[in-house]
Amino acid sequence: MNAEAAILYAEHLNVMKSRADAALERAGLEHLVVPSGTLHYQLFDDRDYPYAVNPQFKAWLPLTRNPGSWLVHTPGERPRLVYLQPHDYWHVVPEAPNGYWLEHFDVVVIREPVEAQQHLPKNAARCAILGEAQSALGKYGAFAPNNPPAVVDYLEYHRAFKTPYEIAMMREATRRGVRGHLAAERAFRAGASEFGIHLAYCQAAGQEASELPYGNIVALNEHGAVLHYTDFGRLPPKPLRSFLIDAGASHGGYACDITRTYSADKGDEFQSLVDAVDAAQQNMGAQVRAGADYKQLHLDAHLALSAILKDFGVIRVSPEEALASGVSSAFFPHGLGHGIGLQVHEVAGFAASDAGGTIAKPEGHPYLRLTRVLEPGMVVTIEPGIYFIDMLLEKLKQDGHADAVDWARVDAFRPCGGIRIEDDVVCTEGEPMNLTREEFAIAG
Ligand code: GLY
Ligand code: MN
Ligand code: MN
Repeated sequence: MNAEAAILYAEHLNVMKSRADAALERAGLEHLVVPSGTLHYQLFDDRDYPYAVNPQFKAWLPLTRNPGSWLVHTPGERPRLVYLQPHDYWHVVPEAPNGYWLEHFDVVVIREPVEAQQHLPKNAARCAILGEAQSALGKYGAFAPNNPPAVVDYLEYHRAFKTPYEIAMMREATRRGVRGHLAAERAFRAGASEFGIHLAYCQAAGQEASELPYGNIVALNEHGAVLHYTDFGRLPPKPLRSFLIDAGASHGGYACDITRTYSADKGDEFQSLVDAVDAAQQNMGAQVRAGADYKQLHLDAHLALSAILKDFGVIRVSPEEALASGVSSAFFPHGLGHGIGLQVHEVAGFAASDAGGTIAKPEGHPYLRLTRVLEPGMVVTIEPGIYFIDMLLEKLKQDGHADAVDWARVDAFRPCGGIRIEDDVVCTEGEPMNLTREEFAIAG
């Protein structure tokens, strides 16, 4: 991986530089300056929160544990990395700069955060400084992040298009995630609690919870109906019926986002429902093609899931009626997915252009996170689900749709909570590349 990553990284860096050049030109500025970020402390306490690197920084460098460092890009010059390596015997300090990225930078090592100032461009007014307010440096806050919209809009819009290096990083993250998922399924079948499954996942993925791109969702039985269930039950429920796990992993600052659902009894009706969603999900993944409108994929998913609900006798209306009346949204109340990369929910999902503007969500679908037309290089999740959520089902009744549902069928599935199947899929010039399925095929 490292030799390959070195070659891919050089190309990636060239893409970052040309995007930055174009963004600076738009804004009439001369330098891009990006602080890696700072530690944040809990109120009235001396404990820090887990450090989260500025995504604008890790877009350039696979450095995720280096608060107080700065990147400077000036068109036509070698980029500069101001690298904080404090003298500190209380904490583990970042190791001396090393890795495939090093040869491309002029690196200055500093020992105190304030020393960065003397290595930044002289005139802060000519800089696009992208970061959090707390990164401000210098007398009178000269080096305070200004986040010019023209620069941010441009970079965030183009961030949707992943370089081959970024896809390689996401593949590595997926490799870890799939190892975790396989271990989690084994733990579930062995009767572990949610907490035990979570630990088995982290162990196999080789990542501590704070290193994961988002908090693991490990849900047994009815807990699968809570979309972002993040309690970890310490005892396994009895009887054990179903298992929904939404868990990712990180590599070099990039995320994967994977969900699987299992029945405890591989021969029961809930497993058949899972299998039907799984087959539909694979069809949806196959629609990740250049020119496809993600909004339409989301609406098509409602129709496909409604057809499954109809086949299983849960709803009595046609898929078209279910979509038009909002009945399908009671069972599938989130979006089909989102962009993914440096952040699990990648930015600019609604961006109309690299100069701003918003593409609206379809009416009645407030939780869709991506409304753009797909183009080669985009990586998106495809995560349809069917859930039995009391609050939403109750609302269906109140809204006069009680007859659209067979409530005895709802009662049969409710103890299993819900189903979600989620893969990360790359849009290419031709066939989509399903990173998740490919890794499961290799590992399985
Ligand atoms: N893991 C959160 C999501 O799937 O979007
Ligand atoms: Mn997701
Ligand atoms: Mn997920």
